[in-house]
Amino acid sequence: MEDSELDPSELGTHKYWMEAYAKEISNFEHNGDPGDVWFGEESAIRVIDWICGCGIDKNTAIIDLGCGNGYTLSELAKEGFTNLLGVDYCTEAITLAEKVTKREFPELKYQLWESNPRPWTQKAGSLPTAPLGRHGN
Ligand SMILES: C[S@@+](CC[C@H](N)C(=O)[O-])C[C@H]1O[C@@H](n2cnc3c(N)ncnc32)[C@H](O)[C@@H]1O
Repeated sequence: MEDSELDPSELGTHKYWMEAYAKEISNFEHNGDPGDVWFGEESAIRVIDWICGCGIDKNTAIIDLGCGNGYTLSELAKEGFTNLLGVDYCTEAITLAEKVTKREFPELKYQLWESNPRPWTQKAGSLPTAPLGRHGN
């Protein structure tokens, strides 16, 4: 099979996420709408079920890379995980996640951080492919 580049997508741009989350912050402030779970709640729950089934300690450090509104972290917190960090390169996403989750899950931590895009993803954008990984303390 011949190697070919993917076409660039606007979803791979910081501008796209900045504008999307600015809108979602406004929706949350006006209507209490926490915003989109981008891959659907069902797939987030499948990931969470898989993590729960791994038998790892509930204090295992977990990082959600590209955390968006913090939905996955909230669900992990509901399952009893205590060492959770959400990172995103979009300030507006971090702001939304903090606003949406702070009342119920004040222990969740967030950090503005941009992952290094791999060379072969630079043209098509920098969407992280693996939303979750472990983080150190
Ligand atoms: C498709 S959304 C998924 C958001 C959330 N995980 C969800 O499932 O609803 C992708 C997220 O990754 C973030 N993102 C994209 N590229 C990134 C990068 N290079 N470093 C850190 N975050 C990035 C975007 O700002 C956005 O919040």
